[in-house]
Amino acid sequence: MLDDSSFEVLFSADEIRSRIGILGEQITKDYDSVGEDTVMIAVLKGSILFYADLVRQVQLPITMDFIGISSYGDKQESSGVVRLTQDLSTPIKDKHVIVVEDIIDTGLTAHYLLENLQTRSPASLKLCSLLHKPDGSKKAVDIDYLGFTIPDKFVVGYGLDISQRYRNLDYIGWKK
Ligand code: IMP
Repeated sequence: MLDDSSFEVLFSADEIRSRIGILGEQITKDYDSVGEDTVMIAVLKGSILFYADLVRQVQLPITMDFIGISSYGDKQESSGVVRLTQDLSTPIKDKHVIVVEDIIDTGLTAHYLLENLQTRSPASLKLCSLLHKPDGSKKAVDIDYLGFTIPDKFVVGYGLDISQRYRNLDYIGWKK
């Protein structure tokens, strides 16, 4: 059995769903004229649940791709070491790119990733993140589409893990 009794709910499945609806509407509006040339990139693994729900709220003929990044290993604090573990399947030159992240904490991962993608000459490059912990910031990054701002506490669920577990919770929580 999945024992999640030590977690307190921070955002319920309903709250997450309704926030994603709004983000999807914003993206649909902003990319209306370039939908065909828009690529939404999921940053593995943390963003996959958010990504899967978000793309279904974007009413445009976008394409989907995936990139793998490792920053924490199995620890709960940023190592500052960022590594590409899986690359995109197609070039993004002249495409309108939206990077979909689970959480921006220190900002080191997103900064590294955006710099890497920028060298591939996309037509535009924007960042969407479900969560932001502004108090953990070490590198400033602009978040173009943001779900929720949270305090500097470790959260789990809805794609986010502790030592690779609890990603499959349908809510976001933290230790009681
Ligand atoms: P950053 O490089 O410090 O901004 O961290 C980004 C990555 O760290 C995220 O994509 C997550 O995988 C992980 N991370 C940061 N904070 C948390 C948290 O509270 N819970 C789970 N993972 C986290």
